[in-house]
Amino acid sequence: MSSSLCLLTGATGGIGQAIAKALYAKGWKLLLVGRNAQALEKLSATCPDSEIFIGDLTDDTTRIHLAVKAKQLGGVKLLINNAGVNAMQSLEHTSSEQIDNMLSTNLSVPIKLCQLFLGQLQYTKGTIVNVGSSFGSIGYPYQTLYCASKFGLRGFTEALSRELNGSGVKVAYLAPRATDTTINNSKIRALNKELGNKMDSPKLVARELLALLDSNQTRRFIGFPEKLFVRINGAFPRIVDNAIAKQLPKIKRFLS
Ligand SMILES: NC(=O)c1ccc[n+]([C@@H]2O[C@H](COP(=O)([O-])OP(=O)(O)OC[C@H]3O[C@@H](n4cnc5c(N)ncnc54)[C@H](OP(=O)(O)O)[C@@H]3O)[C@@H](O)[C@H]2O)c1
Repeated sequence: MSSSLCLLTGATGGIGQAIAKALYAKGWKLLLVGRNAQALEKLSATCPDSEIFIGDLTDDTTRIHLAVKAKQLGGVKLLINNAGVNAMQSLEHTSSEQIDNMLSTNLSVPIKLCQLFLGQLQYTKGTIVNVGSSFGSIGYPYQTLYCASKFGLRGFTEALSRELNGSGVKVAYLAPRATDTTINNSKIRALNKELGNKMDSPKLVARELLALLDSNQTRRFIGFPEKLFVRINGAFPRIVDNAIAKQLPKIKRFLS
């Protein structure tokens, strides 16, 4: 199968742009997806011959139109579910609409896109990469919905990867730690600085994605000590409970 089409969601975001440029340099043909037409066109000018698709992925009809467009382009060989949203707030002050939007954008949409594109990916013997987070393995206060969505995405990715074992379709999970993009508002940035949390560049995340694609790995966690904490939290969660309890007064200061 000769398709080299990569469908990238969240293409106009910080990590998305870096991934688009890295994949373009490797010879992939890109189908760049986002809601902001101007930002998509600007990005596609830096990756000539790329296709763009403008739309809100939480909309059912939009996703169907996207699948039709991808099929017309020869079918997707690489699906990267990268679009996502985040907010740091207490559950108490979160509206029902905010809950639905976070879970839909970060969890339901990637699941529905995997299902929708499965036929094309089986045909092309392709790959899915779902972009999660270290918060997909570590529950963090005031990030309850983000954690719920990314824990869900990690579980879904692992289960689907095992379900499709031997089918020719690879399903992988990439978990960045804090990365320098506008998904992190000034409060999150200030908190990360106060706690001494490192922030990666989007380019580093893109390099990690290329390394994941070149390997036979199905999961890749970025950054030390975060990837160690992921393991400690899995095996000895009480240790992480206690460490985060000590951070809580500082975290609360950045909420107001
Ligand atoms: N930055 C970090 O610290 C960090 C850490 C770990 C994991 N991640 C994950 O990395 C991924 C990329 O994040 P980023 O840092 O690059 O964030 P970003 O700069 O805010 O980009 C988010 C992208 O998602 C798109 N998007 C959001 N809702 C959408 C919707 N309903 N329909 C279509 N597109 C939608 C946005 O498109 P529009 O142009 O339409 O807004 C934008 O392109 C996310 O899944 C995030 O959870 C980020």
